Amino acid sequence: MKKLSKRQSSIIYMKENGALFSCPICSEEMEVFDDGNIQCNNRHNFTIAKQGYVNFLTKNVQTMYSKSLFESRKKVIEYGLYNEMQHQIANLIDSSAHRVLDTGCGEGSHLVRICNLLQQKVIGIGIDIAKEGIITAAKFYEDKIWCVGDLANSPFQKDSFDVILNILSPANYDEFKRLLKKNGKVIKVVPRSNYLIELRKQVFTNTEREDYTNEQTVIRFYEQFSKVEKHSITYRVPLNKEMIPHLLKMTPLSWHLEQQNISLQEITIDVDILVGEG
Ligand SMILES: C[S@@+](CC[C@H](N)C(=O)[O-])C[C@H]1O[C@@H](n2cnc3c(N)ncnc32)[C@H](O)[C@@H]1O
Ligand SMILES: [Zn+2]
Repeated sequence: MKKLSKRQSSIIYMKENGALFSCPICSEEMEVFDDGNIQCNNRHNFTIAKQGYVNFLTKNVQTMYSKSLFESRKKVIEYGLYNEMQHQIANLIDSSAHRVLDTGCGEGSHLVRICNLLQQKVIGIGIDIAKEGIITAAKFYEDKIWCVGDLANSPFQKDSFDVILNILSPANYDEFKRLLKKNGKVIKVVPRSNYLIELRKQVFTNTEREDYTNEQTVIRFYEQFSKVEKHSITYRVPLNKEMIPHLLKMTPLSWHLEQQNISLQEITIDVDILVGEG
């Protein structure tokens, strides 16, 4: 039998999950049609692209995140830098969870790896405002729903998700609460002061940018959600030389300016995983 195109498989999968979508312009329900159009009752229309993702933005948004940044992020994630963090997150997801949304999913590897660690089969949906991230995600990972969109005005129905992931990305808590099912969980990852510290020390010598605290973000999370838990994790991963340029390139901060003399044997992951109910 002929293999379905990426677009065709996405149309089928999005149609199966069509009840998820809500128009980002007028909030009406949407229908996924066999020709790959997703349309609301007011005829606002979005089309599934040939790569299998759908762009729900109503205007072009320029971001600092480029294709090569996302490719470097993917390499670093595949190298295993975030394995321990992903395991911890997977352990925090109940076996009854059925739909998982990753907000600010970038190139999608965290969502895919976390879903793969779960015992149950889940529907994974990733949304990011950077088209380059979503195109990379759709290129490599087929069995997910990939959307370009703004997490503050998302194209999804209320009460839709058991888990909302928000990993090293900006958040919108009102929107997260709208999207969460009753007893659903937000799992947010925020860096702590030693996150990638070996790199920051070498790049930001003698500047205040070496120091970072997540205190305000953590306080705000406690204010917004109930039953909050904070899991702090810190670990070091040995590095090989080939990874250093990707580590430098994977953030939009100034440290991806050409740094010739960086030498790193290992790198620290130091993050808080915040869990709360809506
Ligand atoms: C530091 S990256 C993290 C990406 C991914 N979670 C990871 O850890 O590899 C932050 C991401 O948030 C996305 N982002 C920023 N503002 C957003 C918004 N309003 N809606 C959706 N995504 C957004 C960016 O495009 C970027 O991909
Ligand atoms: Zn509409």
